[in-house]
Amino acid sequence: MSQLDTKSQAWSALFSEPMSELVQRYTASVFFDQRLWRADIEGSLAHAEMLQAQGLISAHDWQAIQSGMNTIRAEIESGAFEWKLALEDVHLNIEARLTQLVGDAGKRLHTGRSRNDQVATDVRLWLRGEIDGLLALLTELQKALVGLAERHADVILPGFTHLQVAQPVSFGHHLLAYVEMFARDAERLTDVRKRVNRLPLGSAALAGTSYPLDRERVARTLGMVDDAGAPAVCQNSLDAVSDRDFAIEFTAAASLVMVHVSRLSEELILWMSQSFGFIDIADRFCTGSSIMPQKKNPDVPELARGKTGRVVGHLMGLITLMKGQPLAYNKDNQEDKEPLFDTVDTVRDTLRIFAEMVGGITVKPEAMERAALKGYATATDLADYLVKKGLPFRDAHEVVAHAVKVAIQQGVDLSALPLATLQGFHPDIGEDVYQVLTLRGSLEARNLLGGTAPEQVRAQVARHKARLGA
Ligand code: ARG
Repeated sequence: MSQLDTKSQAWSALFSEPMSELVQRYTASVFFDQRLWRADIEGSLAHAEMLQAQGLISAHDWQAIQSGMNTIRAEIESGAFEWKLALEDVHLNIEARLTQLVGDAGKRLHTGRSRNDQVATDVRLWLRGEIDGLLALLTELQKALVGLAERHADVILPGFTHLQVAQPVSFGHHLLAYVEMFARDAERLTDVRKRVNRLPLGSAALAGTSYPLDRERVARTLGMVDDAGAPAVCQNSLDAVSDRDFAIEFTAAASLVMVHVSRLSEELILWMSQSFGFIDIADRFCTGSSIMPQKKNPDVPELARGKTGRVVGHLMGLITLMKGQPLAYNKDNQEDKEPLFDTVDTVRDTLRIFAEMVGGITVKPEAMERAALKGYATATDLADYLVKKGLPFRDAHEVVAHAVKVAIQQGVDLSALPLATLQGFHPDIGEDVYQVLTLRGSLEARNLLGGTAPEQVRAQVARHKARLGA
């Protein structure tokens, strides 16, 4: 970035003294809003094409603007473009270079436009593309989880409530719970995208413009259309230039993505600890300790859990940014970019890494099953068995509590108690009780929609695969 050109700004006739370097730095956004350059050029071209179609600029100017923008695009891509701090932001940098390249045609580009509707358009275009990228990554992550679930539909995991062993579940079923979460995340992002994909251009500074602009034409050119294919144009100029709801709701949806990743991370971390020993995570996602040679730490899930705080923080930042802003545009809104950009970067990298990492998880079924056996996970099954024999559920619950107490005293699983002992708790207990007391019997019994029976898990895997195109 070139340092202070003591340039006279576009509006400088009114100004009698230059900005200090500190104030320039404080007010400039070009350090970070550079990344909007593609959207800025795309938006400008759509605007210029419309100006020409409406007879507001000549065909010659339109040609000149296109060729100038092609040059600028190439310069930015190659790194030759000189970003100038004194030109404040991405919009003024590109416009100034355009004018340098093509003269008066460049100066006509801003007809009927303000940076206020320009920046709102740019951010929306940019975010729309990023949402599409995140949706693709969410699909990848879901596919990886579904693949792992399919391979482990029959693996028995102790299901927990209160982190106490509760009932046996299929490991595949457990993984598919996360697929449900990420599927809802994709739904939410798809819904947010509709409100992102609306056109502010034509609102000018705040009140609209006296030029006969064709806003719907610009919307169509930019692909800002609703589900029915009709142009999606912001309907109130004051709202259009000042609304950042779309950024806030995107960040809210992104926060939920991270919350889901964080919950999964917490489980991976627990499962990988020696006390659980349920899984192993491939070495390339872990690090060692500088002092303890035996350590292999699950850094990636830990960092993802940590980065969740950062994204949720951005949501708080953005929502607070909007609070108390009077209509219409205020410079406060320039502060929307860094949190939004960092949210996108964080979620993108996290999803990309997780999609890979999930595929590299090694499952240890014996350890999971051992843990399930330790926790009297089939106690509910014994109660259900007694209910089927005619006992009221509350009485059955009490009978089983006694049985569990004895099993604990003897240090064995319920299924290891002899029939005579079990019959001591209730005479209706018969030989068939052992089918329900085994982990697998318990699992297979929960064979209803949404249940953990491997048959159900396989049906869900098939549904997800069809939905995800896997
Ligand atoms: N860099 C500004 C932003 O990010 C662009 C809009 C500036 N508009 C203005 N009237 N100063 O919001």
